[in-house]
Amino acid sequence: MRVLITAGPTHEPIDPVRYIANRSSGKMGYALAEAAIAAGHEVTLISGPVALQPPRGLSRFVAVATADEMFDAVHANVAKIDLAILCAAVADFKMRSIEPRKIKKDGRSKMTLELVATRDILASLRDRAKKFLVVGFAAETDNAIENARKKMREKNCDAIVCNDVSRMDAGFASDHNEVTILFCDDRVIKIPRATKSIIAARVIDLVTPKQKI
Ligand code: CTP
Repeated sequence: MRVLITAGPTHEPIDPVRYIANRSSGKMGYALAEAAIAAGHEVTLISGPVALQPPRGLSRFVAVATADEMFDAVHANVAKIDLAILCAAVADFKMRSIEPRKIKKDGRSKMTLELVATRDILASLRDRAKKFLVVGFAAETDNAIENARKKMREKNCDAIVCNDVSRMDAGFASDHNEVTILFCDDRVIKIPRATKSIIAARVIDLVTPKQKI
């Protein structure tokens, strides 16, 4: 199969020296790319800024920084894929306008930044007309399963991998994770706590067509 994976955070510039980011390390997305390569798939990895080496054996690697760049990279690469796994922690908001010069303190005691919503990459694949499968991720701190199911329906995913990011021993930045995969046919499969590479191999196995979703 030809598999496209997004990974890592995005960086949304504020001015030439500052940006808005999040705690995603990219480890889960990179582990998915490795697992997909190991399973014999052709893998395109689109990655936000991370401190990881791209896995060997990728068909294509695209490094991006912002949500807009990731959106464009995904759309430039979906024409010939069978499966998209959107694991990146894409920023939901960006600066309304990026300051061209470093913002100075200027004696102020408060600062307000005006942000606008970014485009939702996963939701933008909603009308793919069954050309390829789409697996989303849901990073949740409360009512994880309920919120993930809602995201799966709203963004028209074939499956969604629900990640509890409130835990310190799993999830963001950790080498471990514990996830529940919800499928659009109402199957629910819990993968108990394990290294991200074990979780990734299991996710790839479950979302690739021999166990058709
Ligand atoms: N996602 C995306 N583009 C965005 C925001 C999110 O493609 N601009 C994708 C993520 O890659 C993930 C899924 O949408 O596969 C859910 O992301 P998450 O951060 O859990 O949820 P949001 O949709 O951003 O909603 P909220 O932050 O309100 O929970």
